[in-house]
Amino acid sequence: MPCTKPPSAPRNVNFNMNETALYLEWSPPFDTGGRKDIIYNVLCKKCGSDPNDCELCGGGIRFVPRHSGLQNASVTVLDFLSHVNYTFEIEAVNGVSDLSFSPKQYTSITITTDQEAPTLIGMVRKDWASQNSIALSWQEPDYPNGIILDYEIKYYEKAYPRIAPAFWHYLRVEEHEQLSYSSTRSKAPSVIITGLKPSTKYIFHIRVRTAAGYSGYSNKFEFETGDETSDMAAEQGQILVIATAAVGGFTLLVILTLFFLITGRCQWYIKAKMKSEEKRRTNLQNGNLRLPGVKTYVDPDTYEDPSLAVHEFAKEIDPSRIRIERVIGAGEFGEVCSGRLKTPAKKEIPVAIKTLKGGYMDRQRKDFLREASIMGQFDHPNIIRLEGVVTKSRPVMIVVEYMENGSLDSFLRKHDGHFTVIQLVGMLRGISSGMKYLSDMGYVHRDLAARNILVNSNLVCKVSDFGLSRVLEDDPEAAYTTTGGKIPIRWTAPEAIAYRKFSSASDAWSYGIVMWEVMSYGERPYWEMSNQDVILSIEEGYRLPAPMGCPVSLHQLMLHCWQKERNHRPKFSDIVSFLDKLIRNPSVLQILVEDIVGMPESPGDTPDYHFFVTVTEWLESIKMGQYANNFMAAGFTTLDIVSRMNIDDIRRIGVSLIGHQRRIVSSIQTLRLQMMHIQEKGFHV
Ligand code: ADE
Repeated sequence: MPCTKPPSAPRNVNFNMNETALYLEWSPPFDTGGRKDIIYNVLCKKCGSDPNDCELCGGGIRFVPRHSGLQNASVTVLDFLSHVNYTFEIEAVNGVSDLSFSPKQYTSITITTDQEAPTLIGMVRKDWASQNSIALSWQEPDYPNGIILDYEIKYYEKAYPRIAPAFWHYLRVEEHEQLSYSSTRSKAPSVIITGLKPSTKYIFHIRVRTAAGYSGYSNKFEFETGDETSDMAAEQGQILVIATAAVGGFTLLVILTLFFLITGRCQWYIKAKMKSEEKRRTNLQNGNLRLPGVKTYVDPDTYEDPSLAVHEFAKEIDPSRIRIERVIGAGEFGEVCSGRLKTPAKKEIPVAIKTLKGGYMDRQRKDFLREASIMGQFDHPNIIRLEGVVTKSRPVMIVVEYMENGSLDSFLRKHDGHFTVIQLVGMLRGISSGMKYLSDMGYVHRDLAARNILVNSNLVCKVSDFGLSRVLEDDPEAAYTTTGGKIPIRWTAPEAIAYRKFSSASDAWSYGIVMWEVMSYGERPYWEMSNQDVILSIEEGYRLPAPMGCPVSLHQLMLHCWQKERNHRPKFSDIVSFLDKLIRNPSVLQILVEDIVGMPESPGDTPDYHFFVTVTEWLESIKMGQYANNFMAAGFTTLDIVSRMNIDDIRRIGVSLIGHQRRIVSSIQTLRLQMMHIQEKGFHV
C-alpha cells in the first residue's frame, strides 16, 4: 500500500452571486490522501445548451486570488458575461497527485449568469495635467446594458502611499498602493482630479455603474502630474483670456502713466516703492518672513518684573466695572465665572472672569498673570480676546470675552452628529487661522487640543489657554515624561515628547489631533490606550484612522500633520488655504473614508491569519463590550468576519448610537491594518 495518495474530490460546492462577482466555496475532501498539503484548482468552462458542448473560459474571466493553487476552499470570479452557462470544475490536489495515474477527482457546479452588468469602459486618456491636477476622459462601455448612473475613478500614487497606513513599512508595495487609494465619482466619462502631488505618477482605474451594478475595473492606466512648467502652460491659457480683457485697461493705464510723468507725480511713486522695499527687508528677520502688520510675540519671562509685562500688554480694569454673575468652572488658580463688563462707552458686554483665589504665593500670582501678558499681545478673531486685568485690588482677575458654548470638546460631545461637514470644516478653518496668526507671531502654543478651544454662539472657534508651562501644569491631560516634563502625550508630536522640541511644526501635529477630535465629535484620541502604548504605536508608524463620516481629504490632511519628520508637516498657512479650498469646493468633502477604504472585495482577498483575540475581547478593548451579544447573535463571531463588516451591518445588529457606530467603524479599520501587520510578521498571539 502507498503511504499517501491523491485526495478525493472537494464537497458541497456552493455559490453566491451579485451583479459583478460570483463567490464559490466548498468543503475540503473527505479523504485527504493522508497528507496535509491540499490545494485546489478551478477550471472554468462556458457551455451551450448542450452540457457536452463546452469550451474553456479563457482569459476574459478573472479569479481572485487566482484559479489554481488555492489554499482556501473558496474563490471569487469576476468579469463574467451575462446569459452564459458557466461550469466550474473544482479539483483538490496534494503533493502526490502528479505522480498518480488515477483520473482527477473534481466536483463541478453549473451556474447561469442572468444579471446584465455593464461591460468595461474603453481607453482612458489624459487630457491635460498641471502640478496638482489631472484631467482624464474615456470611452463609454460598448454594452452598458442599462442607463449609466456614474463612473467610479479609483487612483493612487504609484510609488508611495498618500495615506500613511498603520504599520506601512510591513506592507508590500502593491498593498501600500491599494491601501492608500482615493476614489471619486463622475457622471460624465471625464473627470478632473485635484489635490495631487507635482511630478508624481498615479495609477487610475475606472468602473461604470448601472442599476444592475458595477462593471469590472478597467485596466490600470498610469499618468503623471506636471511640474511647474505645466502649470505655467495651463496658466498661459488663462493669461490669454486675461490679456484680451486687459487690452482695454492697458490703454487706460498708458494714458494715466503719461499723465503722471508729465505732472512729475511719479516721484511720489518711486519714494513709496523705496519705503516698501525697506519695510520688506526689516520684515525678513532670521530668514523668516514676518508679515507686515503682524507683531512678534514677546515672552513675558524676559521681563525682570512680571507686573511690568502685564501692564504693558493688558489694561487695568476698575473692579466696579465688573459684575460677576455665576461660576462656570474651576481653574488651577481659582474659579472661572461669567459676568458683565461695563465698557468706557457704558455698554455692558458679557465676559468670562478668571480669578486668583486668596492665599496665593507670589510665584502663583506671576504664573496666573502670565497668561494675560501673553493673551494681551494678540488681536485676531480666532484668538480669545483679553479685555483686561484686575491687579490693584483683590481678587486678582483676568477678564476675557465670553464664549457662550464653552470648550469645543464638551460642546461637540453634547451635540454629537448635529453638524454638517461644512460646519465642522468651518470650525477647523477658524482654529487653523488663529494658529497661523500665532505662528506668524512666533508663538508656540504647546497645548493645542479641543479642550483649549472655546466656541461662541456663532460657532466661531477661538484658541485659548496660553501660558506654556503653566498651561501644562493646569492641564489634566498632561503627564510626566521620563525626562521630567509634563506633556499631553496624545496631542503632542513625537520630537516634543522625546526631547522637548516644541515648534509651530509640533503645534501642527496637535492641530491634526484637534481635527480628529472635531471630526469624531469629541472622541478621545487613541481611546483607552495607555500613554505608553500611544508613544510606542506612533513610533511604529500607527496613526489614528479616519473617524466615521470623515471626508478623505480631511483624513489626508490629518495624516500630513502627523508626519514623523516635522519639516514635512504642513504650515498653518497651507492648512488655512487648503480648508478654504474645501469650503469653496464642498463636493470634495462628499468622498468619505468608508467609501474608499472599502471592505475586501471578496473573502478570497482577505489574508488567512489566525485570530489574536476574541470579538468580545476586542469589543471590550474599545469599551464597546455591551454589544458582544449583538455581534454573536448576528453571526459576527470572529475578528475575521468582523473585519469585513460595514456601517450597515453595524447598524443592523443594533448599534444605534452614532458615537458607538463611529467608534466601532474606526476600530474595524485599525483592526484590518493590525491583522495585516500580524500576517506579514508571521506571528500569532
Ligand atoms: N470657560 C473658560 N473661559 C471661558 C470663556 N471665555 N467663555 C466661556 N466659558 C469659558
